[in-house]
Amino acid sequence: MKIAIFPGTFDPVTWGHLDIIIRAAAMFDKLIIAVAQSHEKVPLFDINERVEMIQVVLREALPVSQNYEVTGFDGLLVQHALDMQASIIIRGLRSVSDFDYELQMAGMNQRLAPHIETVFLMAHERYHFLSSTLIKSVAKCYGQTVDFVPPYVAENLRRKFDPSLKEGAV
Ligand code: COA
Repeated sequence: MKIAIFPGTFDPVTWGHLDIIIRAAAMFDKLIIAVAQSHEKVPLFDINERVEMIQVVLREALPVSQNYEVTGFDGLLVQHALDMQASIIIRGLRSVSDFDYELQMAGMNQRLAPHIETVFLMAHERYHFLSSTLIKSVAKCYGQTVDFVPPYVAENLRRKFDPSLKEGAV
């Protein structure tokens, strides 16, 4: 059974991530979508919120028969891959600017766990400009994000930045 793992911060998950998830899920027996704690990035959504958003949107995006699991992890990706019995790491490439970083990560992961392969999928050209950071900037200025993230995620973004929902607001 070929188990692949698609790791990321997913703060929040975007249509670009979903495109990679749907394509990868069709290629392997099981796909683990692994949400990294990512202390360095100081995520807007906590890890439970990020996992929950992916679970909700995947219930609509993937067929019931599709074998997948959404997990949260803290620590080394390759350790989590081993724990989940995954032998393939999936990464999406949007442009040449992603390449250097991805090459370094794939190289390090290969050193740490030589039998785990990294497989790259080209992001759909429709999503080349997307990043979670840019989408958060749009939401912070009360811009519409539905073209970039599923409606459930857009609503969560709106709530994060809605001043009337802040604690103590009248
Ligand atoms: N569509 C849209 N956006 C995409 C995308 C796609 N197909 N692919 C990547 N992105 C964006 C993300 O939104 C993200 O944007 P942001 O930086 O504004 O948040 C950016 O590209 C890269 O994010 P992502 O793909 O989620 O990777 P990451 O850099 O956040 O996560 C980990 C990298 C978590 C996989 C890596 O840090 C890791 O493995 N950490 C665990 C610790 C470890 O093992 N370290 C050693 C690694 S060698």
